[in-house]
Amino acid sequence: MSTTSNELLSNYPRHIAVIMDGNGRWAQKRFMPRAVGHRAGVKSVRAAVEYCANNKVDVLSLFAFSSENWRRPEAEVKLLMALFMSSLQREINRLDDKNVCLRFIGDRTAFSDKLQQKMSEAEEQTKDNKALTLVIAVNYGGRWDLCQAAQQVFNKIASGVLEKQQITEQLINEHLSTAGLPEPDLFIRTGGEQRVSNFMLWQLAYTEMYFTFTLWPDFDQSSLEEAVKSFKGRQRRFGHTSEQVLNQAVTL
Ligand code: IPE
Ligand code: IPE
Ligand code: MG
Repeated sequence: MSTTSNELLSNYPRHIAVIMDGNGRWAQKRFMPRAVGHRAGVKSVRAAVEYCANNKVDVLSLFAFSSENWRRPEAEVKLLMALFMSSLQREINRLDDKNVCLRFIGDRTAFSDKLQQKMSEAEEQTKDNKALTLVIAVNYGGRWDLCQAAQQVFNKIASGVLEKQQITEQLINEHLSTAGLPEPDLFIRTGGEQRVSNFMLWQLAYTEMYFTFTLWPDFDQSSLEEAVKSFKGRQRRFGHTSEQVLNQAVTL
């Protein structure tokens, strides 16, 4: 992979990717239906967006609904879709005012026409915003992302636009749903599980991982600050030795 010495030494994450987990347990602990936890999670989304916009993070990616979450009870899936729609409608102007650019990744063909339209409109409305790119992963799976990239590349080869020798890591990057975005520097998963659950499988190759037991609705700006602090204390080596990194003797 190609890195620059700046990337090796950077101590602020440019891209933070989050698995927002633990909404259901947050509600169940309070003897409330899981839906209450999902609703409570929305304020943590607002807090994370605000923190990132104020702290010069370029990209915040949030895993909102995985390609496997369709396996949940129908009522919960319906509720999550409705919440997604209503949050989008409610938040879009506020995000636009904050100069946030919204981008959705995932297979949107599974969503209602109305929701797909809202998503496109939100992207269009905010496309020139520069303070923060907010990536919402819905009906997203890392394996899906690699498959759809492979299909695009295959089609280009089949139609003669590309030769198979041109398949490089960079070419794959350019066909992933995250094309044009820096790779995540910091991955956060709330809720205590220590797994990736089919989130950005390719993109997380060199990401620093941070797991916390804090449930997503309780994850506030100070929790995020704590995660960033942990990230800042780490030495990223990208395969080099510690001495090379410290001496900045890396030829890249
Ligand atoms: C994450 O919280 C939100 C989504 C997956 C949509 P969960 O709903 O997975 O909460 P837990 O893990 O059951 O507590
Ligand atoms: C991952 O959480 C997906 C999202 C947060 C959207 P899950 O709660 O679905 O993950 P598993 O099933 O526990 O691995
Ligand atoms: Mg969960």
